[in-house]
Amino acid sequence: MDLEVSKVAVFAMYILFFALFPLNDACPRANPKSSSLNVLDFGAKADGETESSQAFSKAWDAACKTTNGIPSIMIPRGDFLVNQIILGTILAPASPSAWKVEYSPKWLTFENVNGLNIMGPGGINGQGKGWWDQSCRDHPGLALSLASCMDCSISRIHSTNSPQIHILILDSNRTKIDHVTITAPESSPNTDGIHIQSSHDITITGSTIGSGDDCVSVGDYNSDIHISDINCGPGHGISIGSLGKDGNVADVKNIFVRDVRLNGTTNGARIKTWQGGKGTVRDVIYERLKFTNVKNPIIIDQNYCDQAAPCKEQSTGVQISDVTFRDFYGTSATDMAISLICSRAVACTGIKLESINLTSAKTRRSVFSNCINAHGTIVGHVEPRECLKK
Ligand SMILES: *[C@@H]1O[C@H](CO)[C@@H](O)[C@H](O)[C@H]1NC(C)=O
Ligand SMILES: *[C@@H]1O[C@H](CO)[C@@H](O)[C@H](O)[C@H]1NC(C)=O
Ligand SMILES: *[C@@H]1O[C@H](CO)[C@@H](O)[C@H](O)[C@H]1NC(C)=O
Repeated sequence: MDLEVSKVAVFAMYILFFALFPLNDACPRANPKSSSLNVLDFGAKADGETESSQAFSKAWDAACKTTNGIPSIMIPRGDFLVNQIILGTILAPASPSAWKVEYSPKWLTFENVNGLNIMGPGGINGQGKGWWDQSCRDHPGLALSLASCMDCSISRIHSTNSPQIHILILDSNRTKIDHVTITAPESSPNTDGIHIQSSHDITITGSTIGSGDDCVSVGDYNSDIHISDINCGPGHGISIGSLGKDGNVADVKNIFVRDVRLNGTTNGARIKTWQGGKGTVRDVIYERLKFTNVKNPIIIDQNYCDQAAPCKEQSTGVQISDVTFRDFYGTSATDMAISLICSRAVACTGIKLESINLTSAKTRRSVFSNCINAHGTIVGHVEPRECLKK
């Protein structure tokens, strides 16, 4: 299995590999004195012109051969021209203490890189079990992050058992993820498949995602996000949110989700916002979704709250408008197949339900819809019967 990183030109590259490389037969002998390996020592030049691929590969090989301590590869700030590097399967440290979280909660990070392509086949294994068993809210752990990357791609890699989010796309534009496979147990907390934040013009396609949290989650400040041809399950569906926490001003628009097959997930198409937030979520289209035994196939929750007791009603909320759910069919694991719960302060408007046929996963049971403060229109046959207000 090879994981291949290639790029045409690097403008600024800063990669932190907190990786514990597999110290097995593939990595024999040798014992470099230091376990921190700087690519400059292997002949890389930060001048933006010198081909440094060989130097990167040598640093990688040296890290692989390290027998004392946890090797890390440092790529200092600067401009490195790197064409292709072929890496093996990458394993993360299995324990959170070996992962220097005080320095960065991220494991493999590519920051400020333009035109980076990360290609499989090959994989990264976050060995997240040690994290799932402890309270991870204090210990964020992300497997692969692209931050401030323009025109980048991640293709055909397999990411498994991340401590938390498997792939994070942050502050990036014009970036594509295709044909990735993501797997983590249904019971692993916060292991979103792909999380997108503050990014624009992002495409995710042809991927199979099963995890303990959202298959894809669209966070705040995103626009023009295209998600298509996804198999999701287990997991929490394709979610927008949660947005507007602690009075934040949300700004999410032009989100297109189509051709998604959900199997055994807790949610299908979901939008969740916190009370007390501000701003908007608008122009969202979910279409051609197929459900197999999904607990909440269609759900908008404007009163999202992660505590056991109900959160206090507040006078502001994130405005949700112009959201279409179209061409949905399949089975609901619960009786409530459509749930559109909007706030009294800021109702949902422009909701469109079109050609929907959801039935119960259990024999001889009916499914229902429940709407509160949700306004919009119905087109074609919608089952269960709609409950939208005009
Ligand atoms: C990224 O896209 C946003 C929205 O279109 C734009 O405002 C921003 O300038 C872009 N950033 C870069 C570096 O291209
Ligand atoms: C759903 O998942 C179950 C359990 O993994 C599997 O047996 C079944 O074939 C899947 N169904 C569909 C329609 O993919
Ligand atoms: C809805 O789906 C059920 C179960 O697959 C099917 O029996 C029924 O004919 C469908 N209704 C419409 C209007 O397509």
